Amino acid sequence: MNKKLKSNLPFFDQNNPTMRLDLCTWPEVEEYLRHCKGIILPIGSTEQHGPTGAIGTDALTANAVAHEVAKRAGVLVTPIQPYGMAEHHLGFPGTMSLRPETLLLLVHDLLISLAMHGFEKVFIVNGHGGNIATIKSAFSQAYRTISTMELSELKSFQCKLANWFMTPEVFKEAHSIYGDKEGHHATPSEIALTLYLEPTLLSKQCALPPPSPAGPIYDYKDFRQRYFDGRMGSDPSLANAEDGEKFLDKAASALTKNLLDFLQES
Ligand code: NI
Repeated sequence: MNKKLKSNLPFFDQNNPTMRLDLCTWPEVEEYLRHCKGIILPIGSTEQHGPTGAIGTDALTANAVAHEVAKRAGVLVTPIQPYGMAEHHLGFPGTMSLRPETLLLLVHDLLISLAMHGFEKVFIVNGHGGNIATIKSAFSQAYRTISTMELSELKSFQCKLANWFMTPEVFKEAHSIYGDKEGHHATPSEIALTLYLEPTLLSKQCALPPPSPAGPIYDYKDFRQRYFDGRMGSDPSLANAEDGEKFLDKAASALTKNLLDFLQES
């Protein structure tokens, strides 16, 4: 492993084992930057996840995976951005969505802040498919902005998007356990991870009627009509905490490797 990638900072090992930016002081961040230019930024969504899944599913899962990757790789992790682009879920109470343009500007501003301190590699751990297009647009926007700024310490600036639920390891495992009951939204794999992280959610689990089949996504009114209880072809009643722990481990090991490769890439 590249020396630059390893955390050899005693204050991280002893007092800050989760590598959390929010628990660092600025001198600690300055010191960290002398050793490593990489940082992890988790992004979730606050949206309905069917009649039994937590509204915070995508934020809980992305945060947990990001923290596990941070620990394993010895790379700092920022606080999570818990709101995403969830316009099509707004027909269900509890959903809080950012418009694509809001999310684009928000992610752009966070990336520029990090670049201004000398972070050169930002690894986004994402928990929500609806964020993907906008996050990628924010990368392009940030590259454009940085090209016009005078950031003398910055040699390069690169961002990578990692969707934990789409890693081949997780995808394969989910389909081998649940088959076509994995579905496309409020999936048993993501619900399993929340059950592992928050055991109180177990009390909401119950048998469910057959879901609406997965299909297209248009506006929130259409979504509510098309997918009567918010699920898209999934059966989250199959989820259990033990599988959730497995998904966390599989996602974290795949993304830790992706992150370390990304940090070493020129
Ligand atoms: Ni989700």
